Amino acid sequence: MRRPPRTAIFPVGGLGTRFLPATKAMPKEMLPIVDKPLIQYAVEEARESGIEEFIFVTGRGKTAIEDHFDHGAELNEVLSARGKDKELRAVEDMLLDPGQVAYIRQQEPLGLGHAVWCARRMIRDEPVAVLLADDLIMAKTPCLKQMIEAYMTTGGNIAAVMDVAPEETERYGILDVSSDDGKLASAKGLVEKPAPADAPSTLSIIGRYILDPAVMVELNRQEAGSGGEIELTDAMARTIGRVPFHGLRFAGRRFDCGSKAGFLEANIAFALERSDLHQDMTRILRRYAQTGKAGPDTGATVA
Ligand code: UTP
Repeated sequence: MRRPPRTAIFPVGGLGTRFLPATKAMPKEMLPIVDKPLIQYAVEEARESGIEEFIFVTGRGKTAIEDHFDHGAELNEVLSARGKDKELRAVEDMLLDPGQVAYIRQQEPLGLGHAVWCARRMIRDEPVAVLLADDLIMAKTPCLKQMIEAYMTTGGNIAAVMDVAPEETERYGILDVSSDDGKLASAKGLVEKPAPADAPSTLSIIGRYILDPAVMVELNRQEAGSGGEIELTDAMARTIGRVPFHGLRFAGRRFDCGSKAGFLEANIAFALERSDLHQDMTRILRRYAQTGKAGPDTGATVA
């Protein structure tokens, strides 16, 4: 019988150059959406999807992620002494059990495929999930859970996909579709970041994958793609023919938090979902929509 993936890899070794200077000393994945870092959303999604082992592929300057998922004895004592029970629960509930989490260093950011390959010795001959924290997904059923449900039928490789505007294909891995039932598309090829004229479709891969063990074997070749990076898409593409490849149009909304506009939109969208913030956010957004600005400055005006 087919078994669902039990292990998830979180590649967090990128440089996050689009968010400099914020990411000079802080990992991009620690940027908060409202009051929770991006990486925590990804870990919670994996947990709710049945993942039991969590592997972070980190890089230079990423120790904040390890600290975030560690027990903070001093902080807990202070919260407890001050009767801040809700806050104490918030920092305790998110912790993973001892031994459930491992950190591996990607010594150089040579690409997403390379980051995944760095975890090869920690996974057995079994499927593995990969989640990119900067793709944040708001969904009733966690996106990875939807993918695992599909995987139990299809096996092979699965990526979360969405239709993008034709001029955006250059930013994504694109499916060369062989069949498509509107939800699940089967691919006969993948093209990494094609120009619109060369794109075989507009069905784009976003940062959620279930990988067949054959992908790791392909990654062993350490071949860089046309952009100079070792791409995960290229390794998956090379298994097509031997291993089925499906793209799942997941139910939910994806925010590209690797871009500034996507990150800001995610903050608004997640704040609007919160009962403690909904009213304030609505009022603020209305004011901006009506006037296009924050309102009059406070304090003295300079002559
Ligand atoms: P991005 O392409 O967004 O790159 O990586 P980046 O370095 O994080 O950000 P920018 O473009 O410079 O602003 C997508 C995901 O893959 C991981 C990143 O951490 C991010 O989660 N990644 C990328 C690695 O782990 N290692 C790499 O070598 C490259």
